[in-house]
Amino acid sequence: MTVTQIRKQDKIAVAKWSELEDRAPTYALVADVDLVVLRYDDEVSVLYGRCLHRGALMADARVEGDNLICGVHGWDYRYDTGVSSYNNAEVLQKFRSWVDHDADAVLVDQAEIRTWAEQSPQPYDRDAYLGLYADVHGTPVEPFTQHIQELARNGLLITPTFGPRVRLAKVFTDLPLIPDKPIEFGVWDFCMICEKCAKKCPSQSIMYGKPTVKLHNISNREGLLRWPVNAETCLAFWAANGTDCSNCIRTCPFNKPTGRLHDSVRWGIKNLPFLNPLFLWGDDLLGYGKRGKADKFWKDTEC
Ligand code: SF4
Ligand code: SF4
Ligand code: FES
Repeated sequence: MTVTQIRKQDKIAVAKWSELEDRAPTYALVADVDLVVLRYDDEVSVLYGRCLHRGALMADARVEGDNLICGVHGWDYRYDTGVSSYNNAEVLQKFRSWVDHDADAVLVDQAEIRTWAEQSPQPYDRDAYLGLYADVHGTPVEPFTQHIQELARNGLLITPTFGPRVRLAKVFTDLPLIPDKPIEFGVWDFCMICEKCAKKCPSQSIMYGKPTVKLHNISNREGLLRWPVNAETCLAFWAANGTDCSNCIRTCPFNKPTGRLHDSVRWGIKNLPFLNPLFLWGDDLLGYGKRGKADKFWKDTEC
């Protein structure tokens, strides 16, 4: 007899039956396990709510035919069983569920889900950066993608040495490589108070305020807590301008060269984030991020 069988049922509601739209995936959380609840006609299915590929939330998935399709890379699972039609070995755990019409509730057995979670510990830290939306998986060919975390307000990856002036590329190699450790150096906290890129964006494509999971349009990836950039208004500005722009890169305070002052500020941003308003004030005071004079620019760049 398994542990699950000898534990008493502990029923808990995960949705209001009358509010469940037909074949519209709905999110629920029980015993720290993300679930997807799906009503189909007069039946209901409650499955583990994370795609087995890279952990995207299945509550953000869509229904096509008999399948629940992950919105990120299209993995499919039968919504009535959790079994993938494409590869039957991939199965979203299905939990028992009941519809209590008197209580207008969909119920699950919390004890069953808790037992399952003990055997399948969940890696999501809901209080950390990206929290519910973090990619904690990686893949054999991209084992470290989950470590690319310091996405900035301007939608770019910021690095300690080059600030936002980097472009990512993949190199496939079988050379032996030494993996280094993930780092955090305060970008997220600094972007929370600095809005220089947003203020200097001529097309106002960069968000002010707090990060969000709301999207501007189809050009934003779903399911990420971030400052989504409106890439469509950005590119429209480029087209109207006749060239590119990059104000959001140029104005970013993380662009500084090495040197005693800038290195100390970088250290402060990483270790003393409560001083960030002071660092930002200093950046403005010293005139960083201001538009330069065109004449001076051309004179300085003359060969
Ligand atoms: S490239 Fe220019 S228009 Fe586009 S987001 Fe950056 S600042 Fe705005
Ligand atoms: S300009 Fe400020 S808000 Fe924008 S990316 Fe750089 S640090 Fe973040
Ligand atoms: S298909 Fe779901 S995360 Fe890739």
